Order: sequence, then structure tokens, then C-alpha cells
Amino acid sequence: MIDKRYANKRGGAKTWSAGSCKWLVSWVANCLFICSAGMAGAVAATPAAGAGQPAASLQVVHWWTSAGERKSVDVLAGRLAEENIQWRDLAIPGGAGLGASKVLKSMVLAGKAPEATQLNGIVFGEWADLGLLLELDDVATPGGWQKLLFPTVWSLVHNRGHVVAAPLGIHRINNLFYNKKVFDRLGLAAPRTWPEFERVAEKLKQAGVTPLAQSSEAWQVATLFETLVLAESGPAYYRSLFVDLNPAAFGDARMTHALKRLRSLKQWMPQPLRERPWPEATRQLADGDAAMFVMGDWAKGELLAWGLNTDQDFSCAAVPGTADYHLYSVDTLAMFAGDYSHQPAQEKLAQLIMSQPVQSAYNQVKGAIPVWRAPDLSKMDSCARASWSAFSKGSAFQAPSLVHRMAADETAKDAIVAEVHRYFVDDKMSESDIQRRLASIARSVSKTGKQE
Ligand code: BGC
Repeated sequence: MIDKRYANKRGGAKTWSAGSCKWLVSWVANCLFICSAGMAGAVAATPAAGAGQPAASLQVVHWWTSAGERKSVDVLAGRLAEENIQWRDLAIPGGAGLGASKVLKSMVLAGKAPEATQLNGIVFGEWADLGLLLELDDVATPGGWQKLLFPTVWSLVHNRGHVVAAPLGIHRINNLFYNKKVFDRLGLAAPRTWPEFERVAEKLKQAGVTPLAQSSEAWQVATLFETLVLAESGPAYYRSLFVDLNPAAFGDARMTHALKRLRSLKQWMPQPLRERPWPEATRQLADGDAAMFVMGDWAKGELLAWGLNTDQDFSCAAVPGTADYHLYSVDTLAMFAGDYSHQPAQEKLAQLIMSQPVQSAYNQVKGAIPVWRAPDLSKMDSCARASWSAFSKGSAFQAPSLVHRMAADETAKDAIVAEVHRYFVDDKMSESDIQRRLASIARSVSKTGKQE
């Protein structure tokens, strides 16, 4: 049973529902397998304290381990140090946080919850319902967060009338990065449609350049796939699949088409296609070994950290057919309430995260855009401005990333990602086969219990 210390301050001790118990049981199961392995892979704490002994310290769990990601952590840790609070770093390697989310669960179960954690997506509603998270209303209300934030971000960090996480930045997933020097040398322009993409890819291939960088890692394949689904017919259909988990939508011809596109893009990818971390695929783009790359804009943070410049060395376009849309993932830090002894330092961190200078400095290195609806646009490069314009159009133009936890819970996401990956690596698997499997996943996990 979870320590009583974790009972929610405002709500008092929580009533444990059957749902909560089922969830905890699956934690335990995960934990038995993953706890020791995950902890062994963790990157040791990096103190970032100011002069003298810091007054307080916060342990922060996250999965930011690449060069660009480390620089963004340094912005946060450095700013916190100026307040005499030490950021004790617990970075769990693994793109998209696959390891981190499991290690985090095991830490909480062991009664060793960190004071803060990267906890993206709808999952923190569940954690908040369990009474584990510190409510940040004492910072958010006087700070005017509701007015400052994009409505989508406000509703994401807001659970049952309380703010339960501090939002850092908004990543765009439907980016087509391209190597500017290679494109200029070959006289190519960024493709806006799929026929244009095919023509550009053909020319690149003839010139001996791999057209599209890609890893075969499951989450990276699924990240590409969700952009293709968005390209098919926009956010409404995308939501019927990944938010509503409507089984009938998975049988639709648009799904067949997106799957076929995913498979046909393989011809433009490196051969043999290897499973490699996303910074390695980004490196291929930077070196000009590959000319294009579809990835969340943390890849831009990486390119900048390596000394490349936007619109000189690389540029961003939208994945063909998605220029009007924003496939988003919002990074957030949630705080564990614990015994409330860290509350002043946790609230200070939340306040800093939402301050204009930190929003601007952090997002410039992370590659994301600020969560403020009216940020300082003069600090943004062309990629960030395109992202901001698309996101500002409002929810009808926004699509929550499945792979990056914005659309469905962990169980549904993992099952869908695994099936898409199977289809991608096994050319013998037919579209109708995988569509049947996806519909059956949707049927079994759909909260609405919708049937075909
Ligand atoms: C996170 C980013 C992170 C990326 C790569 C995404 O899920 O939102 O902050 O940089 O994964 O690990």
C-alpha cells in the first residue's frame, strides 16, 4: 500500500477504487521486471547548486539525456541554483521516456518518489486522482496561468479544478527537417505534397544521398506513422482513432492508405534499417548522409546544440499534407507531494518554469515553443514561428500525439505502437490484418466502450 504521506493535502486521504487497485497491480508487475534494470541505466545525479550550501534540493526524474536535452536541463537547473535550490538530476535514458515512466512507477511504489518528474500527458490525471501530486494552485492562481497558457495546455495541466503540473514547452511532431546544404546543392525545394516528396526523394537517391533518415525503433516508427495519419485527413479523423479509440475508424480506407504510405517510405530509408537512438538518426541528417528526417522538434534542439544553424545548415517544413496542423506533445514537470517538506522549493520551480525568461531560454535550446499564448516571437527562429502559428490556430488544427502520451493512456499507446511496428518490419503482414488487430485493441481498451 502506498505510504499515507502521499495522501492528497486538499482532498485528504483518497478512497481507493477498483480501478486504482488494478492500476497499482500492473505497476507491481512492471516493477518486478524493470526496476533493477532501469535503475542500473540511470544517469547519476549532477548537482547544479550555487555558491555555498543550497537551502533545499529537488530530485528530478526525466529522460533528457541528449546534447540538446542536457542543455535545456542546464537552463532549469541553473535558474534554480540562483534561488539557492539544488536540482538533483535523475536522468533515465531512453527516447520518448519508455524507461523513465517505468522507473518512476517503481520508485513511487518503493516509497521513494522524487520531488519532481517529467510526467507528460493524460497520465498525470490518474496520478493526481491517486492523491500523489502536489497541487500548484498557490502558484498558478496568483501567476494568472489560466490567462497566460494556451487553452489546450491549461486543460492538460488542470485536473478536477486543480493545477497538477508545470508546463515547459510545446513540441511539434509533424516536422520534415531537411539538410539545407544538400537541398541547395541539388537545387531542391522542400516538398509540400506527396508527389513532390517522391520527386525530391528520387533525385536525392540518384545523387547518392539517402532521402529519409529513420530508425527502426518502435516509437520512432510510430512517430512517423502518426504524422502520416494526420496527413490523410486532418485532426478530426486522427482523434477518432487515437483519442476516441473508435474501432470502426481503424477499418477505414484512410487507415489503409496511411499504412501503405508508411511501408512505401521504406524505399527511401537507410538500408539496412537499424534500430538506433533518435540522436543518431539526427546525426545522419546533420552530416548530409540523409537529406530529410521526420521527428519532433527536440531534433532541432539537438542540431542547434551541435552548432548547426536554422535556415543555413537545416530547415523545417511540415510533413506533406500537414502544414496547417500541429501534432503536439507538451512537456510538463509534476511534483510529488510527499510529506510537503519540499513544497516551497517545488513551488519555486513551478513559478520559474512559467516565467517569461525561462520559457524563452529553455524553449530556444529544447527546440520547442513556449506554452504562453503570447510569447516573445522575436526570440523564435522560422521553425518555432511556424510551430507557433499552427498551434495558435486552435484546437481544430491541433492533434495530440499518441506516441508522446497526449492522446490515450499508456496501455492503449503501447499496444498500438507495437502493432504498427510489427506491420512496418514484417512486409508479409497485410493492411487488413493489422487494421483488424488495431480495431480489436481499440475495442478492448476504449473507455467509451464504443462498438463497431
Ligand atoms: C519528450 C521530449 C523528448 C523526446 C525524446 C518526447 O516524448 O516530450 O521532451 O526530448 O521525447 O526523448
